[in-house]
Amino acid sequence: MKVFINKIIPELGYRMLKEAGISYTVWKEKPILDRGQAIQFCKGHDAFLSAGQAGLDADFFEQCKHLKVVALHSVGFDSVDIAAATERGIPVGNTPNVLNKATSETALLLMLTVARRALYHHKRIKKGQWGIAQPTEGLGFDLAGKTLGIVGLGRIGAELAAICHRSWGMNILYHNRSSNPEAEKAFGARKVSLDALLQQSDVVSVHTALTEQTRGMFGMEQFKKMKPSAIFINTARGGVHREDELIAALEQKVIWGAGIDVTNPEPMKPDNPLLDMDNAVVFPHIGSATKETRDEMTRCAVENIIAGLKGERIPYPVNPEVYQK
Ligand code: DGY
Repeated sequence: MKVFINKIIPELGYRMLKEAGISYTVWKEKPILDRGQAIQFCKGHDAFLSAGQAGLDADFFEQCKHLKVVALHSVGFDSVDIAAATERGIPVGNTPNVLNKATSETALLLMLTVARRALYHHKRIKKGQWGIAQPTEGLGFDLAGKTLGIVGLGRIGAELAAICHRSWGMNILYHNRSSNPEAEKAFGARKVSLDALLQQSDVVSVHTALTEQTRGMFGMEQFKKMKPSAIFINTARGGVHREDELIAALEQKVIWGAGIDVTNPEPMKPDNPLLDMDNAVVFPHIGSATKETRDEMTRCAVENIIAGLKGERIPYPVNPEVYQK
């Protein structure tokens, strides 16, 4: 049994595969593989461990319908045609839960960096402008006692809300399809309409999956409903906000600032205006980029591969319905 791995993964993954008697091919070169090359490699293998491979569409699954399992090295699966995989009986696995801490901390880092204007001050030093002349200049704002609005209170959003509530006594609002009684009990979170959340929050943080319902959910109309003193944070998917409208909202000071770990498209072009704005902070999708988290993601992905190749139910299926066929 052979697995194709399209990027370099932590050592732990290779060890697990060897112990399970599974051989592997790893693409270690740059540039990363395009879709056609990935298909060619998959044709000579029984399973595919995919770290962010673009183009896993119906045609990919048709050409690779021999695969016994596809293991994503991510929790998100918005770029994969899951229905096409299911139709061909291919289980697709992801890496749920192990990113909650790292991703919520990334949102926190963005919140603090924007609220305290940290990047702006850093850039000033480089320009030879150490310090601020007047006590009234260059000020940020306290998070303590402010209101955090979470859009999509799943595990990552709940982790962020818990830290903010415990550390700074922040009030928590959330907007979700379903209620989250645990969060309501643990930190007094209140479920409200999206409009109420936008109007009342000092920080709006997005943690929803990218779906047809959430694509482009944040544009000028929503930014205008936010307080002019509020900040917008997105660590979920770039497609949830409309980037040109975010740029306009920041330029026109419709909102006070923004911090994003996800862009649309990715990678962001180096001449994107957001990179030069004093009230914007952009990270290159580093939500899960800690040693511990990447190890755990690898463990989940390889467990999916091993089970899939043994013909067993994979532990973290995105399409459990594949087993009902
Ligand atoms: C995920 O796992 O979906 C993350 O966004 C990738 O870092």
